Amino acid sequence: MQLDDLYRRVIMDHYKNPRNRGTMDNDSVTINLNNPTCGDRIALQLQVEDGKVTDAKFSGEGCSISLSSASMMTEAVKGRTYEEALELAERFSSLMKGAPVEFEELEDIEALSGVNKFPARIKCATLAWNALRKGIEHQQQS
Ligand code: FES
Ligand code: FES
Repeated sequence: MQLDDLYRRVIMDHYKNPRNRGTMDNDSVTINLNNPTCGDRIALQLQVEDGKVTDAKFSGEGCSISLSSASMMTEAVKGRTYEEALELAERFSSLMKGAPVEFEELEDIEALSGVNKFPARIKCATLAWNALRKGIEHQQQS
């Protein structure tokens, strides 16, 4: 697939040096999700306190797009309230639909914007964000 060079560098950096990859013992919620198209799997663990995401870690296997997206997402949500985290996930969906969304200080995430031209890859990029949504919805209901 063709992505702009700068964007490719950002994605490869997160892929090779993933932020928050691993597991934690003191998670509040764990979400396991598969990408149905390829069978790759992500486990997202969130630690929450007083309606805020205080820590996030992910594990599992996937392609460079899915793992770099998980790396960026886990970095982006730490310290966010549920509402803020869901709002970020919403903005990410818009980015995947081709909308010119800006992420201000989280500009690494914009590196994934080129993915919207590759429908199969959108599933890779959104896997971690879907796990985030599920994790927060689960917390809001409990
Ligand atoms: Fe291009 Fe997975 S990143 S195929
Ligand atoms: Fe499996 Fe991208 S190919 S997550």
